[in-house]
Amino acid sequence: MQHITVVGAGTMGNGIAHVFAMTGYQVQLVDVKQEYLDRALATITKNLDRQVKKEAITEEQKQETLGRINAHTDLGAALADADLVIEAASENEEIKKNLFRTFDEKTKPECILASNTSSISITKIGAVTKRPAQVIGMHFFNPVPVMKLVEIIRGHETSSDVYRTIHELSEKLGKVPVEVQDYPGFVSNRVLMPMINEAVYALMEGVATVESIDTVMKLGMAHPMGPLTLADFIGLDVCLDIMNVLLDGLGDPKYRPCPLLKKMVAAGHLGRKSGKGFYDYSAS
Ligand code: 3HC
Repeated sequence: MQHITVVGAGTMGNGIAHVFAMTGYQVQLVDVKQEYLDRALATITKNLDRQVKKEAITEEQKQETLGRINAHTDLGAALADADLVIEAASENEEIKKNLFRTFDEKTKPECILASNTSSISITKIGAVTKRPAQVIGMHFFNPVPVMKLVEIIRGHETSSDVYRTIHELSEKLGKVPVEVQDYPGFVSNRVLMPMINEAVYALMEGVATVESIDTVMKLGMAHPMGPLTLADFIGLDVCLDIMNVLLDGLGDPKYRPCPLLKKMVAAGHLGRKSGKGFYDYSAS
């Protein structure tokens, strides 16, 4: 496996491109607009600079890593030689299904097709291709260069060979892979999102302030970020979408999204990316 194509240059896509290029793989990073790619390369450069400053890598390694990333908007060209495609596009089922139809058409028959989806069924995505045995979930965590976990999701048809290949590849990247079956929210978001949702209920019911809820979880449970800070970091719209996937897929009312979470998303208060969520980021 040499040629990796990452589709989607947002927060997750640029982090995934960063770790593959740093491990020595040739990476094609594709998005629909050049400005998204420019922003992604600027972020990767900033994060590599941070690693140089920490003496985790040398300036030469930084330049080599950047030299392995070819960022452009030509999806067809990026798929032709790919051994592995990792989709990190918007968390929308139709967008993902359309992309996977294209991947299936334009890649070599042996190419593995992975999705970084945080909650959409890998089985459903695989079913739109003629190679569901080669479709798998490779769920990275933000910030990708720092977080050790890769949740590997096996769709109903994913073959054991493909699972093994992706498991070994994740280890090569310096990550710790964990095998998970394809059920709503997988493990990470099935456990994490109800905790965040409950924190929003506690806030809505006036149990404590935003800062107090976060302090309880940081100092009492040693979480690096409190749940409301983490919700702002992930994006409140993403949290709401995932709660809806849990509610629809598992059918248990315990997964109903908190009305305050819904109201904040309706108001456009999506967290860090919109400048306002549970906290105000307008100054940063
Ligand atoms: N790229 C490279 N390195 C980075 C980085 C980045 N984007 N962001 C931070 N770092 C490095 C720093 O250089 C520092 O390195 P060092 O340990 O060698 O000094 C280290 O990470 C810690 O960073 P900071 O000192 O700046 O800040 P913190 O100690 O506050 O850590 C954090 C920041 C790593 C983000 C930490 O707060 C954390 O772990 N938060 C929780 C993150 C989390 O839960 N992520 C998962 C979100 S859920 C998800 O992604 C799944 C989706 O499906 C919803």
